[in-house]
Amino acid sequence: MVTRRRVLGAGLATAAVASTGAALVPVLTSKDAADTAAKAAAPPPIVPFQTAMPLIPVAQPTSTTGGVDRYDISVVTATKQILPGLNTQVLTYGGQFPGATIKARKNRPVVIHQHNGLTVPVARHLHGASVEPYSDGGPMDLIAPNSTRVYTYPNQQPHASLWYHDHAHHLESENVYRGLQGSYLIGDDVEDALPLPKDAYDVVVQLRDARFDAAGQLVYTMGDRTRTTVLTNGVPYPYFEVAARKYRFRLANTSNQRFFTLRLSGNTNMIQIGSDGGLLPAPHTTPSLFITSGERADIVIDFSTFAIGTQIFLESVASNGTAEQILRFDVTHTATDPSSIPPVLRTLPPLPTPTAQRTIVMRMDEDGRPNPQAFMDDKVYDHNRIDQHIRFGASEVWTVTNANTRAPHNFHMHLVQFRVIERNGAAPGPAEAGLKDTVAVMPGETVKLQATFDTYAGEFVYHCHMLDHSAMGMMATMKIT
Ligand code: C2O
Ligand code: CU
Ligand code: CU
Repeated sequence: MVTRRRVLGAGLATAAVASTGAALVPVLTSKDAADTAAKAAAPPPIVPFQTAMPLIPVAQPTSTTGGVDRYDISVVTATKQILPGLNTQVLTYGGQFPGATIKARKNRPVVIHQHNGLTVPVARHLHGASVEPYSDGGPMDLIAPNSTRVYTYPNQQPHASLWYHDHAHHLESENVYRGLQGSYLIGDDVEDALPLPKDAYDVVVQLRDARFDAAGQLVYTMGDRTRTTVLTNGVPYPYFEVAARKYRFRLANTSNQRFFTLRLSGNTNMIQIGSDGGLLPAPHTTPSLFITSGERADIVIDFSTFAIGTQIFLESVASNGTAEQILRFDVTHTATDPSSIPPVLRTLPPLPTPTAQRTIVMRMDEDGRPNPQAFMDDKVYDHNRIDQHIRFGASEVWTVTNANTRAPHNFHMHLVQFRVIERNGAAPGPAEAGLKDTVAVMPGETVKLQATFDTYAGEFVYHCHMLDHSAMGMMATMKIT
């Protein structure tokens, strides 16, 4: 069993990092983090696979009149039992941890009356969505405590598995870590016409890491590399009972900064059918999946090849090859399966000829200094500065480089779904052939992407989606006019 880490005390936290993907998490040695790690004792060891994976509830609109789905949601603190026998204080949208899934439909607007019931400002951002600046929930567009803001999401973009999360400047990293996030699925006729697994066989699976103290409270320190507990839909190491048939899982990596390399036990393949911006052009059968913080991946797992009684593990593989079992699938019954995965899932429009080229360099202090900073083009984020001026309607190629030698990054743009056109000079792999809003940029890597700015004018941010990095300054502003 790979529960070794879980039975070790906090004193071995540093050693534990080596088995949880040290190369994939930032190399910041935050003194605070080390100090806190030394002080805070770990909770009792978790016996894995004792609880069923919760299905995240679907949010219910308060009104659907006039062709608009309206929701009233309040950000409130809540107490949840995440670890057995311990109560954890979390931040929630409407008391849910993770937030309820919002199901939207293409061309049917969603309007959210977002109340802030906390004592700190919040901002609600819909990650991956094309929305006007007012509703983007950018870092400076805050909802003060005890007030409400109305966000309008037109949902004019194609089907996609998006997510929403807090974005209040300098607070987002901790707010998201403490629970302010949820999934947001846009459906459309293109997707519905396909015979993919549906309804009960189409399941949101949110993965994230966390660190708890002995009392079961979430410990947040910036750049912490000792978030060794993995939560799936808000609980540690659950099992999920499945029928011997195909399932679609909408994976979302909602970690603050953890990158996951996922695989199934027993050399079981998964079939990736979607990424951030909806279905891939074609399904992609793969033994493993790499998903950075903020990215989504839709996969199909076919359990029909397993006998009833089989247990299959979803494993998170560290850079040194050790695997941690994070979720167990129990094949418990049979079911009919009318679903199939067609060889062509969608046709993406051809890329227009680009009208502008830009280069972006991401870099952070990785020498272990206290209070490291993180930079976009050698500047820390300043909301009063416009970093890129973009002509409305332009289709642009951005060449994004990670200038660090050890720290990984990823690159996220608000407003647009882009296409990855090159990774390190080569064509991107099949997992990156669809629409993307967040893309891995590992140390020394260069990724070329193309984005078309023809939906809304105004100011939007782009940033590293390791939220600790964006909070350290790795964020900048583009203005479309
Ligand atoms: Cu997930 Cu600025 O976004
Ligand atoms: Cu975003
Ligand atoms: Cu980064």
